[in-house]
Amino acid sequence: MRIRHVAGVLALCAPLGSLLATGPASAEDEVKVGLLLPFSGVYAGLGTHIENGFNLGLEHFGGELEGVTITVERADTEAKPATGLAKAKKMVLQDKVDVLAGIVSSAVLGGLRDFVHGAKMPLIVANAGNDAMTGPKCSPYITRVSFSNGMINRPMGPWLAAQGVKKVYAMAPDYAAGHQMIEAFKATFTAAGGEVIGEAFPPLSGTKDYGPYISAAKAAGPDAIYTFFAGGAAITFVKQYSDFGLKTEIPLYGAGFLASAAYVHVQGEAADGIVAALHYVPTIDTAENKRFQEAYQAKHEKVGSEFAVQGYDAARMIVEALKASGGDKSKLAENLRKVSFDGPRGPLEIDPKTNNVVQSIYIFRNDFKDGAVTQTVLDKVEGVRDEVNGCAM
Ligand code: BEZ
Repeated sequence: MRIRHVAGVLALCAPLGSLLATGPASAEDEVKVGLLLPFSGVYAGLGTHIENGFNLGLEHFGGELEGVTITVERADTEAKPATGLAKAKKMVLQDKVDVLAGIVSSAVLGGLRDFVHGAKMPLIVANAGNDAMTGPKCSPYITRVSFSNGMINRPMGPWLAAQGVKKVYAMAPDYAAGHQMIEAFKATFTAAGGEVIGEAFPPLSGTKDYGPYISAAKAAGPDAIYTFFAGGAAITFVKQYSDFGLKTEIPLYGAGFLASAAYVHVQGEAADGIVAALHYVPTIDTAENKRFQEAYQAKHEKVGSEFAVQGYDAARMIVEALKASGGDKSKLAENLRKVSFDGPRGPLEIDPKTNNVVQSIYIFRNDFKDGAVTQTVLDKVEGVRDEVNGCAM
């Protein structure tokens, strides 16, 4: 396989010998990938992690494909549905990509779902957790390798209740992902006997001061606060929560994007003690994860985050799906949903009833020691799978 990047993106090339040996690619053996990611706005850094992981995945697994050239083109969706849709349309209608990958925001995914479905364009979702897209709005063309908002948060309800937490105040940004993450937690926490005594949904973009929200949460008198924040919003929220002196008074729990390996080093001591759930933590002790982390860190001098793993696994899925069809890209959508493998996060498969990933969820604690934060796994729930939830394909 040969890998070429277009549109001003870094070139990843096979050794010259192999390029000469395979000769120029024809339209039939070229697979064009359109990466739709945020490279600006509140989720900017997340896009870079996913892209880095994706490129590493092509490097690690692309060699398993003979006689196929993969070209990668990228576009900035920001966290804006209208921008995401416009960029998706350009990639499909003008640039004629064969497969789309990426999408960080649940709102952006919701905004381009009907277009992708109507165009019968295979899309691998490498972040956005929007539950509806593998539920009532599922599509045979949309396969998610990352997570759903529900599956990350459901395990935390009974877990918190088992720790003796009874009253929780919930907080998340005011858009699809924020509401879905909190709803999923609420459903299992209340079923386990807990109570959500209040909630707040600050705007996703432009909230610089969480002070009024944090004060309202404190005034409600909860045993704990449960949150979803990611990217720049997570960095700001965690630092301000600590600056308010609440960290030692009211423990902070949530979806693990709150203290992601992508930016927990920036949060530093402010992240100490946060307990959260995710489908990946860098400390997973397997040969697959070691290989991923060593290669990622050697290349980027940073720990590989869950976002990087999602990109890495998305690239591997494309390679596996092409391998299954002998390089026939017209079979990509139907073969993506059949892929399963052991990756850095552990075993994963795609549920053919929803096209959503089935995977383990890790509950972990962030510990600040000797100037760095480490993430210790406290619990693991295996084979987490979403209900069909109205999906009819
Ligand atoms: C989402 O919008 O689905 C999302 C964004 C960032 C992290 C996790 C989920």
